Amino acid sequence: MKIGIFDSGLGGLTVLREFVKKYPNNTYIYYGDTKNIPYGDKTKKELIELIVKIITFFEKENVDMIIIACGTVSSMCLNEIKKMTNILIYDVISPTIEYLNKIPQNKIGIFATNATINSHIFKISLNKKRVLEIATKEFVPMIEKNKINLNIIKNYCYQVSSFDVLVLGCTHYPILERKLKKYLPNTLIVNMAIPLLNKVKITNNNNNSSGKIILYFTKQSDILLQNINNILDFSYKIIFIWLNIK
Ligand code: DGL
Repeated sequence: MKIGIFDSGLGGLTVLREFVKKYPNNTYIYYGDTKNIPYGDKTKKELIELIVKIITFFEKENVDMIIIACGTVSSMCLNEIKKMTNILIYDVISPTIEYLNKIPQNKIGIFATNATINSHIFKISLNKKRVLEIATKEFVPMIEKNKINLNIIKNYCYQVSSFDVLVLGCTHYPILERKLKKYLPNTLIVNMAIPLLNKVKITNNNNNSSGKIILYFTKQSDILLQNINNILDFSYKIIFIWLNIK
């Protein structure tokens, strides 16, 4: 199967990583819109303009499905994207909400971008639970620059320390998971890629054919390459392409 995955930058690679672990023999086409990062501070109109280009790109690539590996786009533009194309679409938030509604834990903290928090998608969809939504606006720039400030992380963790569950509502955040766990040792930390993977149906995971990853980014930087190597820490044939999309 040929699977398209996109995000504003590195974040979606945490989703790609889980897919490759479970289904190594597919072709993955990744689109990281590093030229337009961060998505979390954009309006819906601005996001839609960018997404039209991404969907057109995936249609030309002839992918079998598109994974919206971005919490921000999932929370704000899912219905619009489904209307743009006939390609099968999965987002990261719907399966996460389905999962959270099934678990017995009641007090759920959400860390996400400004846009996702302002959409209140988690609070609205988890109305039987106690939900605390927190915009952790420093996280994405910190991760993209690979300059992690432990004090900032600690202060946010403190706000959810009495909660049973912490949802990493932005796909960049699993990159901080080990650090978050240090401050929240007893909290169930949810990486949205996991409920998503339980939902996605991969039909022809042919064990005889070997997989391939092609990474497209709209803006190049040295730190980006270094970060990619840290996230995709497996030996796998990866091809990089820098896109020049107007
Ligand atoms: N990784 C994205 C998300 O899940 C976008 C982060 C950003 O660009 O602000 O929300």
